[in-house]
Amino acid sequence: MGWSVYVTRRLPEAGLRMLRRACSQVAVYEGDGAVPQAELLRAVRGRDGLLCLLSDRVDAGVMDAAGAGLKGIAICAVGYDNVDVAAATARGIPVSNTPGVLTETTADLAWALMLAAARRIPESDRLVRSGRWRGWDPLQMLGVDVYGKTLGVVGAGRIGSAVARRATGFGMEVLYFDQQGRPELERTCAARRVSLEELLRESDFVSLHVPLTPQTRHLIGLRELGMMKETAVLVNTSRGPVVDEAALVEALRSGRIFGAGLDVYENEPALAPGLGEFQNVVLAPHIGSASVATRSKMAQMAAGDLLAMLAGRRPASCVNPEVFGPA
Ligand code: GLV
Repeated sequence: MGWSVYVTRRLPEAGLRMLRRACSQVAVYEGDGAVPQAELLRAVRGRDGLLCLLSDRVDAGVMDAAGAGLKGIAICAVGYDNVDVAAATARGIPVSNTPGVLTETTADLAWALMLAAARRIPESDRLVRSGRWRGWDPLQMLGVDVYGKTLGVVGAGRIGSAVARRATGFGMEVLYFDQQGRPELERTCAARRVSLEELLRESDFVSLHVPLTPQTRHLIGLRELGMMKETAVLVNTSRGPVVDEAALVEALRSGRIFGAGLDVYENEPALAPGLGEFQNVVLAPHIGSASVATRSKMAQMAAGDLLAMLAGRRPASCVNPEVFGPA
């Protein structure tokens, strides 16, 4: 007890309450948007724990600014590419994330983007609101079908598999690209493991679910977009840099693909020049896990994990368990 923790943004109350009950000091950054780096470096000083978000860059400098008393870093997100995990491990600091609790909510959003892009929902909404709609028209807002088409899932982990499972209700064939075979997915969805090239060439919908690593940065570039069908839709709910955004703008400009549904961007919250101009792109503000219930579960999981680390225990989800020694 007597712990002092820093939380980099206002979180659902259920998570903050857990911290307040157990810690003597819970400082929360109250500003809008991500905490400025200089403020983070200042505010983290002398803390026992840090609860951060995917929009914070937690590097060796932040860890050293916190000092030797830092006992754990909890990320309120499943993706942890924003934290220098190697630097944390080198300092013996455990890092936790929040997988599992957000899987289905994020899979729902991937489907929302897929359907919205296929059936041109935001564009239709804009038309109706504009007062320019002249009534039913046999050639108006023609989209592409989803039912009975082929879904390509790039990265068939928890979220990718949840996206694939939903495809059975749409009578879709499911292809997946992954480093490992997923027998469960093959059994439940008759999913077929293929190369990335085959997936891109055969799929009507390509949905990205890989973590951001040096290997997956710009996994989808001009060459890969060039392999996709002209009638295909690209959906990205993973991390922005998995797609070369400038290449995507070029592909959209030349009509290489039918459309895209994006929840994540290379330089959030900025968009690549031109990306916001396409009618056939659905743009969401990184809301994959944004349901009331799921965000509350994430905050509670992150808080619970931070408290575990403060007490020297292994958190429910640790991305560098080696800091605790052999299991
Ligand atoms: C959101 O993008 C997450 O990683 O939880």
